[in-house]
Amino acid sequence: MRKKIIVTGGCGYIGSHTVIELIENGYDVLVFDNLSNSTEVSLDRIEQITGTRPAFVQLDLSDAKETNILFKLHQDAHAVIHFAAHKAVGESVLDPLKYYQNNLYALINTLSAQRENGINKFIFSSSATVYGDPDHLPVTEESELKRASSPYGNSKKIGEEILEDLTKSDLNFSAISLRYFNPIGAHASGFIGEIPSGIPNNLMPYITQTAAGVREQLLVYGNDYPTPDGTAIRDYIHVVDLAQAHVVALKRLLEQKQESPLEVFNLGTAKGYSVLEVIHSFESVTQVQLNYKLTDRRAGDIASLYAATERTEKQLGWKAQKGIDEMMRSSWEWEQYYRSQQ
Ligand code: WQD
Repeated sequence: MRKKIIVTGGCGYIGSHTVIELIENGYDVLVFDNLSNSTEVSLDRIEQITGTRPAFVQLDLSDAKETNILFKLHQDAHAVIHFAAHKAVGESVLDPLKYYQNNLYALINTLSAQRENGINKFIFSSSATVYGDPDHLPVTEESELKRASSPYGNSKKIGEEILEDLTKSDLNFSAISLRYFNPIGAHASGFIGEIPSGIPNNLMPYITQTAAGVREQLLVYGNDYPTPDGTAIRDYIHVVDLAQAHVVALKRLLEQKQESPLEVFNLGTAKGYSVLEVIHSFESVTQVQLNYKLTDRRAGDIASLYAATERTEKQLGWKAQKGIDEMMRSSWEWEQYYRSQQ
C-alpha cells in the first residue's frame, strides 16, 4: 500500500520539487495550496515529469474550520510536509502582521487538524535565517539562535518553538524541522523552477533575469565585507538535493518506533560562495556575461553564513550531492524555458 503524504504549499518552488521526489519514491501525494503565490500549472508540470498528477485541494490553512474538514476527509494520511508560508523577507518587515498571521495560523491550524485526526508526523520548512547573525561559523544546530532579522525569520523561529513544545507535550506526535540555507536551481527537466513575483529580491533569480534581459543590471550589495573578495558569503543548495532530503527525513519519521523530541537538521552544503564567485560561476557555465555593478550593502544582510552538516550526515544519513555548476546550469535552463512559455 502506498503511503499517503499531505504536502502543504505543494505548488510552490520547494514544494513542487519535493512532490516530484515523493512520487518517484512511491508515495501517494495530496497537495493543499491556496495558490496565493503559485499556480496549478505546477501540477501539470509535475505530471509531465513523473507521469502522475498529485491529488490537489485548494485550501487556505489559515481557515481553521476548512482545514479541519479537509484533514478529517484525509485521515488515512501518514504525515504532513508543511511548506505553505509567505517568504518575502522585505515584505515581512513592512507588513509583519501579515507574516505572523499567515505563517503561524497556518502552522497551528495544520497541527491541530492533524492531531484531531491522528496524523502524527510532521516535517517543517525552517530556515537558516533562525540563526540571525551568528558568532561562529559554520553554524551547527546547537548554535545559539540570535534575534531573527525579519518577521519572516521570526515566524520560522516561533514555528520551531511551537513544534518543540508540542512534541514534548504529546509523545505520540513527532516532527523534524529542516533549516534550509539558500535554495537555488531547478529540476533537471527544465520544466519547473522558481517564479519570483515581481522584482526578485534573491540573488539567483536576479542573475538569471539579468542574463535573460528582463533586468538591466545586477547590483552586488556590498564589497567591503570581511571576506576574501569583499562580497557576502552564503551556502547555496540545489533545490533537488533539498527536495530529496525531505524524502529521507520522511522515511526517518515513518520508521520511528519510539517517541522522540523535535529533531532539527541543517540543509546546506557546508561550502560558502561569495556573490562574485556565484556570478563568475554563472558566467563560466552559461557563457553569458552579466551586467553587474558593485554597490552599497543591503540593510539587514550579514557577511557570511554557511552550514555545519555533520549532524545531518550522521543522524539523517544525507548529504547534498550537486555542486554550484549544476545549480547555475539548471537555474539558467529553467529561466530560458519559463521565458519561452510567456
Ligand atoms: C544572497 C546574497 C545579498 C540580490 C534570503 C532570506 C532567507 C532565505 C533565502 C527564504 C546576499 C546578495 C542579492 C541582489 C546581491 N529565505 N545579493 N544582489 O539574503 O542570504 O537569504 O533568502 O525563504 O531567509 O533572508 O539570500 O539570495 O537574497 O542574497 O548582491 O540583487 O546575494 O546581499 O549577500 P539571503 P539572497
